[in-house]
Amino acid sequence: HHGVNQTEDSLSLQQAMGRCCCTREATPSASHGSEERHVCGSKVDFVFPDVPFPSPRIFAATGEEALRLLVHRHHEYLLKSPIHYLFPPDKEALEKLVRRAADFVVEMCGGPRYYTSTRGEPRMRSRHFPTTIDERAREVWLICYRDALKEAGFPLPILEEFWNWIEPFSIRMVNRRTTWDPPRRVPFSSIQDAFAL
Ligand code: HEM
Repeated sequence: HHGVNQTEDSLSLQQAMGRCCCTREATPSASHGSEERHVCGSKVDFVFPDVPFPSPRIFAATGEEALRLLVHRHHEYLLKSPIHYLFPPDKEALEKLVRRAADFVVEMCGGPRYYTSTRGEPRMRSRHFPTTIDERAREVWLICYRDALKEAGFPLPILEEFWNWIEPFSIRMVNRRTTWDPPRRVPFSSIQDAFAL
């Protein structure tokens, strides 16, 4: 066996190295003849949920300017948030980012192909790799969107459809884990109260 009832300091180096890297789901030792070594079994960490992309009815209901304003406000909140340091510090770079982010939202919501015609394939997860995004950063990002959506004043079904896209999609941008728990789901029902007048 692999030293489960032994105290930390009584473990031999060999035993310590063979110990499971995680505290959950330790698998039984595999034995190879008389030699026994621990195998940390393969496991799925978490599964990216489905991402229902918005339907063109969003763009039809809001138009381009309202979506651009939404993205602009989202970034204003982000800059005042605990994850402000992730964003470009200079005005010009920031304006470029907000323009691209708005191009993306407009296109995905059914508007003109501004994003893919200038940037190519979205590859959102890859494009976010240079930015360290942990579970907490995602939650802050989402809360900033909740507040920006609140100001946008879109009809409730539009708000819900938009949220049901960005909420699961944002999970795919998490590229730094800090907890055992998978990124928390934030269902629309849990933020809907923010939109009640
Ligand atoms: C770019 C943060 C999720 C859309 C960026 C950049 C940052 C960032 C810091 C700028 C990188 C640079 O300096 O170029 C985050 C954080 C997220 C998140 C913290 C939390 C999960 C999302 C999601 C979407 C999105 C869910 C889509 C709905 C974009 C777009 C760009 C961008 C379109 C510009 C990509 C380009 O340069 O073409 N994001 N992001 N982000 N983000 Fe996010």
